[in-house]
Amino acid sequence: MIDLRSDTVTRPTPEMLQAMINAPVGDDVFGEDPTVNAFEERVAAMFGQQAGLFVPSGVMGNQICLYELTNPGDEIILDNKAHIFNYEASTAAWLSSVQLRPLQGKNGILDPEAVEAAVRTKNDWDPHTRVIAVENTTNKGGGAVYSMPVLKTLREIADRHGLFLHLDGARIWNALAENPYSAAEIGSLFDTISVCFSKGLGAPVGSMVLSTAERIRSARRTRKMLGGGMRQTGLLAAAAAYALDHHFDKLKTDNERARKLAHVIQKKGRYAADPENVFTNILLFDTPGPAEQTLSELAQAGISMTAFGPQTIRAVFHFQITDDEFTQVCDFFK
Ligand SMILES: Cc1ncc(COP(=O)(O)O)c(C=O)c1O
Repeated sequence: MIDLRSDTVTRPTPEMLQAMINAPVGDDVFGEDPTVNAFEERVAAMFGQQAGLFVPSGVMGNQICLYELTNPGDEIILDNKAHIFNYEASTAAWLSSVQLRPLQGKNGILDPEAVEAAVRTKNDWDPHTRVIAVENTTNKGGGAVYSMPVLKTLREIADRHGLFLHLDGARIWNALAENPYSAAEIGSLFDTISVCFSKGLGAPVGSMVLSTAERIRSARRTRKMLGGGMRQTGLLAAAAAYALDHHFDKLKTDNERARKLAHVIQKKGRYAADPENVFTNILLFDTPGPAEQTLSELAQAGISMTAFGPQTIRAVFHFQITDDEFTQVCDFFK
C-alpha cells in the first residue's frame, strides 16, 4: 500500500536502527542518559532556547507547555483548526483547567488583528487571556507556514498584553526546509516550543519541549506526573538525532511532491486542488462526491489517504514514498 495517510507512518531505516544500537544510554529519570542530554542541548541551541526536554509525543509536548504557562481558569487563543483544539482529547481542560478560544483564521494561520481583538480585559468575571498558541506548519490548515512579519506581530501583541507565545512545531521542519527563516530566528520569538521528530523526519517516537532552563526544570516534574519519565531513552533520542541529521534534507522533496500532485489534480479537473494553497507536505483536495467513495477507489489502486471532511481528502508526503510510487499516485489522478 502507498501510504499517504500521514507522515507518521514511516518505519525506522536499518541505518537508524544501527544508530539506536550504537547509542550510549543511561537512566534519564536520573538525568544520566548522555544521548538524551546531548540531543536536548543541541535542539535547544538550534532554536535559541536555554533547555530542552525529550518527551514521548507531540500531544504531551504541547500539553506540558500549556500546563507550565497557565493557571486554572486562564484562556488560550488559538486557531479553530489547531491540533490542540481538535485532536488532543480536551487535555488542556482536563490537565490545566483552561479554556480554549478558537479563532477563524486562514489555513490555520492566526490573523494578528483578530488575536488582539480577542484579548480579554481583566475584570473579575473575565477569563484571563494567558497564551497565544501558534501551529507551524498547520496540520488541519493544509501545511501552511507562518511568515516572519506575522510571527513578529504576534510576539508584539503578546508583549503588549503580558501574554505567553507557544509554538506547536510538530512540523516546523517542513517549514524550515523552505528556508523562510532559521530555527533560531523563529525559536527565539516563543516562550515555549514543542517540536516532533516522529512526523516527516521519520523517527519512530519522540518530541521535545524547549524553553528557559527554569521552565524546563518544572516541565521535567510535570512530565514525570504524566508518566512520561522514561529510562534508557537514549535509544529513542538516537533515532531522533539520526532523523534530524539524515532526513531533514528530504523534506523539500515531500513538499514539492504535494504541490506537483496538486498541479496534476487541478489539470485533470475531476477533483479540486489548488497548487497555490499547497505550502509544504500536506495536500488537501475536494472530491465531487463523498470522500469515502474516492478513498475506496484509491484503495483499489493500492493508495491510502484520509478523509478530512465529507468531500475533502488529505494526502501527506514522507520520505518513504519512492519515485515509482509517486508516479503511480499521479497516474491514478491522470
Ligand atoms: C500539529 C500537530 N501537533 C501535535 C501533534 C501531536 O503529535 P503526537 O501524535 O506525537 O502526539 C500532531 C500529530 O500529528 C500534529 O499534527
